[in-house]
Amino acid sequence: PELDKWVNEVPRPGTVEPIGTKNGHPYYKVETREVEQKIHRDLPATTVWGYDGQFPGPTIEAQQGEPIYVRWENKLPDTHLLPEDTTIHSNIIPYDSTGVRTVTHLHGGNVEDQSDGHAQAWFTQDFQKTGPKFEKKDYYYVNDQPPTTLWYHDHSLGITRLNVYAGLAGFYILRNEHERNLGLPEGEYEIPLVFQDRSFNKDGSLYYPTGPENQGKDESYPEPSIITQFFGDVSVVNGKAWPRLSVEPRKYRFRMLNGANSRYYNLTLLEYDEDLGETIGDGPSFVQIGNDGGLLSNPVEIGNRLELGSSKRADVVVDFSEYAGTTLLLHNNAPAKYYGTTEEDQEPVQPLPEIMLVDVKNTSGGADVSQIPETLTQIPEISLDLVDNKRYLPLVQLSDDYGRPLFLLGTEDDQSGHRLTDPTTEAPTVGDTELWSIANLTGMSHPIHLHLVHFQVLGRQSIDYDSTEDNINPDGLRDPKPFEQGWNDVVSVDPGDVVHLLVHFGEYEGLFNDQTGEYMWHCHMIEHEDHDMMRPLEVLPASA
Ligand code: C2O
Ligand code: CU
Repeated sequence: PELDKWVNEVPRPGTVEPIGTKNGHPYYKVETREVEQKIHRDLPATTVWGYDGQFPGPTIEAQQGEPIYVRWENKLPDTHLLPEDTTIHSNIIPYDSTGVRTVTHLHGGNVEDQSDGHAQAWFTQDFQKTGPKFEKKDYYYVNDQPPTTLWYHDHSLGITRLNVYAGLAGFYILRNEHERNLGLPEGEYEIPLVFQDRSFNKDGSLYYPTGPENQGKDESYPEPSIITQFFGDVSVVNGKAWPRLSVEPRKYRFRMLNGANSRYYNLTLLEYDEDLGETIGDGPSFVQIGNDGGLLSNPVEIGNRLELGSSKRADVVVDFSEYAGTTLLLHNNAPAKYYGTTEEDQEPVQPLPEIMLVDVKNTSGGADVSQIPETLTQIPEISLDLVDNKRYLPLVQLSDDYGRPLFLLGTEDDQSGHRLTDPTTEAPTVGDTELWSIANLTGMSHPIHLHLVHFQVLGRQSIDYDSTEDNINPDGLRDPKPFEQGWNDVVSVDPGDVVHLLVHFGEYEGLFNDQTGEYMWHCHMIEHEDHDMMRPLEVLPASA
């Protein structure tokens, strides 16, 4: 259906309160439920799945140094809302048994492995059935990492794309005293924004394809069949379709999250003439203050576009004071699928250029006393000299038994790629620093995510470098992009590129903590993640 744009205000997600304490720490209970929610003024209510019945879910507000427990409850119906492809991981998923499987992962959380939301730690309604890696009902989040924007979302094996698309995602914001004292915009001037793309049927229901359209569909494909990537035609921000946000002419802090299944966003603010429906000039720039894993050492003005691959966060301040009385468009020029540049030679396939409108009021409610300090925090650099172990990790494209594109994660000695259930190949030792060189041998960009750790981007070069060389030459690399400073947990790898990451496992200079056990790493395009572009990441204890 054709929907009028800019008729709804951007909602702010609610917050959730603890129901009591457990072992002296706040204890939360959050239920996944099916509910009807109005996504757009002119669309009948949509059946969605929401944490505590909300899409997006309620925000968990946590404090550094104060652990919490969360009981994630499954109150979902007996059957799935969206088309399940039962050929995906069919040997390890009981598709024919009743109940929708779910498990919640705190993305970016430096947490113990039993609480990490392993894809096979799923459980059905009231924990009636549990997956092979299920260990506990009450998840423990120690919250001793630097303050940052985390998010929680479903991570259930083989159906994460469907569960997240149905609505199972929410913010988790970790704060501390140091950050509160910086004087950044706060309270009503700090807004989390989750960008997603969805498609709708006329009756308001969510549309998710039952198989590939124009993706080389073949008689031999199962019905329903997983698709290579999903791109919706409607921009949804904080659960509303094509909304508008009203701001005062002053500074705001936006915690931006790409919560889409596959789509990349390449964002900028442009001045917009609503009557003409045209952009008429540049808008204010984004000043980035934080990345996935916390504050940057210094603010970075994003000159050009801010790129957000699936699950990437950017903590930005925008100063609207010079734009009183204007309307701005949050504009996206990332094509779908995405190849990593914004060059004109890219065909704008399935673009989603209009994300949301911003109305800047003529006057402020009061003086803007917020500021962006020149020094935000201290970020110790991980240098190349610290590296104990190197990994060359190619991203490869094959086809599966049905002839469908299959993207896998490989290793130096086996570049044909590994399946999720193949023996573990990434098993670093806690305390070690590793160089992960991720080489994209496929034809599209992939946002690669490591659980548990935050890493620094050393730089990029072309894949035809000699990966057997003992040392890479840091001076020969392209620098990290402006929005890749500080601590990342998702990095975009463009076709033909190798990106070198410095990853320290365990505590580092008083930051993060020593966790060991079984985690995962994967492509965060969820259609890829579900279809085997995910591998174990096992952090081993230091040998005595
Ligand atoms: Cu946000 Cu394993 O993912
Ligand atoms: Cu991918």
